[in-house]
Amino acid sequence: MNRKQNVEVSCSQYINIVVSLNFQNNLMNLKGFIYSGKEGWGRLTTLVDKYMSQGVFVLVDDNTYQFCLPSLLKKCPALSEARIIRVAPGEEFKTIETAAKVWQELSDKGALRNSLLVCVGGGVVTDLGNFIAATFKRGIDCILLPTTLLGMVDAAIGGKSGMNLNGLKNQVGLINMPRGIFLFTEFLESLPERQYISGFAEMIKHALISDRVHYSELLHSNMMKDLDPESLILHSANIKVGVVESDPHEMGRRKVLNLGHTIGHAIEAYSLQHDAEPLLHGEAVAAGLVCEAFISMRFLGLPESDLQSIANFVNWHFPHYRLKPSACNDIIAIMLKDKKIDSPGKINFSLLQSIGKPVVDQYPGEKLIRESMHFYVNIEYGFFS
Ligand SMILES: NC(=O)c1ccc[n+]([C@@H]2O[C@H](COP(=O)([O-])OP(=O)(O)OC[C@H]3O[C@@H](n4cnc5c(N)ncnc54)[C@H](O)[C@@H]3O)[C@@H](O)[C@H]2O)c1
Ligand SMILES: [Zn+2]
Repeated sequence: MNRKQNVEVSCSQYINIVVSLNFQNNLMNLKGFIYSGKEGWGRLTTLVDKYMSQGVFVLVDDNTYQFCLPSLLKKCPALSEARIIRVAPGEEFKTIETAAKVWQELSDKGALRNSLLVCVGGGVVTDLGNFIAATFKRGIDCILLPTTLLGMVDAAIGGKSGMNLNGLKNQVGLINMPRGIFLFTEFLESLPERQYISGFAEMIKHALISDRVHYSELLHSNMMKDLDPESLILHSANIKVGVVESDPHEMGRRKVLNLGHTIGHAIEAYSLQHDAEPLLHGEAVAAGLVCEAFISMRFLGLPESDLQSIANFVNWHFPHYRLKPSACNDIIAIMLKDKKIDSPGKINFSLLQSIGKPVVDQYPGEKLIRESMHFYVNIEYGFFS
């Protein structure tokens, strides 16, 4: 199937095609839905023109309204006729209440079954927008324009959308394939440094689970300042595409994406409960990657030099999270309460045998988990430098 055929099918047809392709050759062409650069701007204009008579709506948050919308309208003047819908920024607004307000606004502004929703923002806006599009009038088309690094390499890829409920993350959601995903790296120019670095943790994770060459490229790219960020970002996004394509029904392979996340999520949750300025997701994942690389070394024989390289990199680029011994108990308790736990007391990990060789469904046990956090605590003192 070539790209042209791909982009002409509707969302529901697309899902069917994905499934049948997966049965045929275990590979779908999700890549065909990702556009970037000059070709991307051209494709975006064509799509917007096509939907204009039925109504085009642009969903932004306050920050992307200020920092991204002006350049978007300049690069894609067709969008100047679109209606803008603006939401407050931040995770706390990724809720059904926000979705209900946007449904109402779409309705008030005359959105039709064949209208298009263009979602411009980080993972919060693309999750929210994808969910709203999939549910409004039983589903209108949407396209995603991620504007954070995390959004470009992770949140906008794979069709998942999750809404928070009563402060718990991603409790309600669905899978809906957008009509296109547009990666325009110029949006990253206004992204705060801290958000950028946080997204970089997911890129490191993608490299670790897939490809040693890409990993060292990232390591030596000076946070992508010295190399072409667009090609590195596309590479990283395509790693996620490859994983999603190989496991569309979440039968197991997708779990490789959990590397660094079992401990990372627990550290993130702990930080949210205890810190005035909590860690960002990627910052917690970076700490999780160090811990889980340590466990990988002990449990699966990941070479010590690889652990050193990961620990040094994280230590150098990410803020060190000061874990007190009491915090380790709480973090383990959080892991044990995780909804994804297989059976009581068994914490499931995705680990690394070597860089590029992830292994899922590993149960290293509490002792090693504690030791890994102890290891992380010590890297602050240049244990490995
Ligand atoms: N659907 C998935 O598969 C998936 C995967 C990973 C993460 N997620 C979700 O993604 C969300 C996190 O996404 P995120 O890290 O992008 O956070 P975010 O969407 O909250 O964006 C971070 C901050 O940056 C601002 N911002 C966005 N783009 C900007 C730009 N270009 N310039 C200046 N400011 C900008 C936003 O307004 C926000 O304040 C979480 O809700 C998470 O659950 C979803
Ligand atoms: Zn993540």
